[in-house]
Amino acid sequence: MSGPLVLAVESSCDETGIALVEGGRRIHANVVASQVALHASTGGIVPEVAARAHLRWILPVLDEALADAGATVADVDVIAVTHGPGLAGSLLVGINTAKTLAWVHAKPLVGVNHLEGHVYAAWLIDPGEVEGPGPVFPLVALVVSGGHTFLVEMRDHLEYRLLGQTVDDAAGEAFDKVGRLLGLGYPGGPAIQVAASGAVHHDVAFPRAWLGDSFDFSFSGLKTAARRVVDAERLEAGIAGDTGATLPGPRVAELAWGFQDSVTDVLVAKTIRAARACGARSIVLGGGVAANAALRERLLQEAAELGMPVVIPRAGLCTDNGAMIGAAAARRFEAGERAGLDLDARPSLPPASR
Ligand code: KG4
Ligand code: ZN
Repeated sequence: MSGPLVLAVESSCDETGIALVEGGRRIHANVVASQVALHASTGGIVPEVAARAHLRWILPVLDEALADAGATVADVDVIAVTHGPGLAGSLLVGINTAKTLAWVHAKPLVGVNHLEGHVYAAWLIDPGEVEGPGPVFPLVALVVSGGHTFLVEMRDHLEYRLLGQTVDDAAGEAFDKVGRLLGLGYPGGPAIQVAASGAVHHDVAFPRAWLGDSFDFSFSGLKTAARRVVDAERLEAGIAGDTGATLPGPRVAELAWGFQDSVTDVLVAKTIRAARACGARSIVLGGGVAANAALRERLLQEAAELGMPVVIPRAGLCTDNGAMIGAAAARRFEAGERAGLDLDARPSLPPASR
């Protein structure tokens, strides 16, 4: 493979990730230090705590990534970093690390939109994996993460047309909130998937927000519906209020399944409709919620019925990591983009923008 060797830094939320990626595709190293255990005690991310944890881990993660790749910073062609969207304090740790590396080693610097990284994870190939053609344009990409949910059309590299996005909660946020409601702990997404796999009746039907013909999403009504059902059932079971008691496991499993089914139903139906409307030749799925097995299976199955290829990265490349930033950065670098040492955090950088 040819193309630039990118050293990519990701620290927008609660994972400290550094990767070395060649030609926007081949992973040479991809080290992620997760803060999940750290934030579990507070049931969510405390920005100040997250920023400090990035500071604690970013240099050990850098050392490990370079060691895994058998490289030094001198071997690298470009330094890349997520500059938004995300938590300001967290972003700044990665940005300042990347700027320092770029300055000390006289390497070019490229800033990447985190959400673009989630799309570009679809081009990544693991060490030793046979290189396939990658996603084919035009394509439709669904990005479902903890902070964002949107559908975008790409007719070529770096060309985005936003088709729709969430009008309230992100899909991952809904998973996390409903997970907490069901007493499943943090983060709710993976916990709901595990709980839902224990469902046997599959007869809980939560509402779906179709929002007419639009490609926008809404999950707050579903969250409220879940809260009403859980409150009513707890009252009936005599465990209402702040008792900390949860509904019986088998019931939690059915409710988790019902919630997951409602979310995946809307996500998959809109993605398929968007792909048809755009005349897409492939579909890409990315973001932390793309790690969800039910969503992956359903999208693969419905797209297969249309003969539409779908690219879904393995779960570890759907959740936040540095490699996806390296994949997007290579395209920006090859398009001639360079960031200055004044690159700043853009916490509210919108999807499909620079
Ligand atoms: O993309 P990501 O790692 O971070 C952000 O950019 O937000 O996404 C994190 C989100 C969390 O809300 C988490 O609950 C969700 O992805 N998630 C899942 C699963 N794994 C992670 N949601 C559903 N099923 C999963 N297996
Ligand atoms: Zn993310």
